[in-house]
Amino acid sequence: MATAGTKNSLSIRDNRTGREYEVPILDGDVINAIDLRQIKVNEDDFGMMSYDPAFSNTASTRSAITYIDGDKGILRYRGYPIEQLAERASHLEVAYLILKGELPTKSQLDSFVEDVTFHTYVHENITEQVKGFRYDAHAMGMVISMVASLSTFYPDAKEVDDAKNRWQQIVRLVAKMPTLAAYTYRHHRGLPLVYPENELSYTANFLSMLFKIGTKEHKPSPVLERALDILFILHADHEQNCSTTAMRVIGSSRSDPYSALAGAMAALYGPLHGGANEAVLRMLTRIGSVSNIPKFIEGVKRKEERLMGFGHRIYKAYDPRASIIKRTADEVFEVTGRNPLLDIALELERIALSEDYFIERNLYPNVDFYSGIIYQSMGFPVEMFPVLFAIPRAAGWLAHWEEMITDKEQRIARPLQVFTGPAVRDFVPISDRR
Ligand code: CMC
Repeated sequence: MATAGTKNSLSIRDNRTGREYEVPILDGDVINAIDLRQIKVNEDDFGMMSYDPAFSNTASTRSAITYIDGDKGILRYRGYPIEQLAERASHLEVAYLILKGELPTKSQLDSFVEDVTFHTYVHENITEQVKGFRYDAHAMGMVISMVASLSTFYPDAKEVDDAKNRWQQIVRLVAKMPTLAAYTYRHHRGLPLVYPENELSYTANFLSMLFKIGTKEHKPSPVLERALDILFILHADHEQNCSTTAMRVIGSSRSDPYSALAGAMAALYGPLHGGANEAVLRMLTRIGSVSNIPKFIEGVKRKEERLMGFGHRIYKAYDPRASIIKRTADEVFEVTGRNPLLDIALELERIALSEDYFIERNLYPNVDFYSGIIYQSMGFPVEMFPVLFAIPRAAGWLAHWEEMITDKEQRIARPLQVFTGPAVRDFVPISDRR
């Protein structure tokens, strides 16, 4: 305990007892929550804890991966601004940076790309599993199931304390995510599965597995290939969000990374998180035309509707990813033609940025507001949108998993609760219950 009067400490006075406590301040504005436990009314008391539903003000880890300043609209991976990475790096280069902490040298990148390329194939039994899904199965549900299945193909992945083994599984997962995603699309369309082609880039290979017809080589437009790479970079990590927390929490019990990543994907699936890009598209389609917007906005203000793709727990100025995506959208539309939903999106954004309801609540477009329109223009069905989020986010989840496993301060995640149920009562036989 810090002594009273030390600058880097917090003095707490418990007015129930009149006792005073000194709690050290660590890392800027942080106190160790367990230091509150000493604050007791009497010796039998459990001790003080903090109540924080949805973890609005609780750091559950130290992390060196991604830095966000939500007030200033700053996002950096390992110190590098997202704007520079989106302009100058490739997705696999960024994945390496996120996973290893440093930008790769040329030879490190070549060998990472080669490793990832080598692991893009999945066991043939997984292809059988794809065929077992209904024709209209949601792509995200299918990929979640297949990622979980991979744990049965790689039982060695349970050796989570072996660094070499962990890296092997990380490479496998980064490599196989596009293959699994593409298989769901082909299944949905009733098309034969296309195997990975090792001479193509990560994104070109993905587009080929999706859209190749017959034996003819699928050559994506370089603009679309790069646009997808940029979208992947923007989605690669976002520190301790819902799905990353799920990955860390599941991984903290030492379960294998495939099972943990399937759980992270399940968390991402929801419409308030990675399912938002799909929800935006459905919302824009439902609004249908610019003339219907005022009615929709009235519904939002009455809280009967939610403006999907707006708002963020952390960004309260603007989401820097949204500005980059908007630029990328213009480039994509030059190739694909303008998406008719864009007019509705632009008008929604204009209204939302000028009306008090949205200004007062700091509601700005987030990463998902325009990404869905781009994906749709590139030929992806809406069910694929959350999967397109999950493919690049695999790098982020795995980096956090690695960081958590090697962090000596981490143990199995186990939050507390404030019990609000009934006090002890005696069992009532069924004949006496009312
Ligand atoms: N449309 C209308 N009102 C909203 C919205 C929205 N999209 N988001 C928040 N609000 C209102 C909310 O009703 C509340 O109003 P009041 O103070 O009158 O009760 C206020 O703003 C604060 O909202 P909150 O729900 O407490 O904010 P949160 O930090 O818990 O939620 C959020 C963040 C992203 C879940 C939420 O803004 C939302 O639901 N947005 C739409 C879904 C979405 O686009 N999600 C993608 C997030 S970015 C991708 C990712 O990282 O997953």
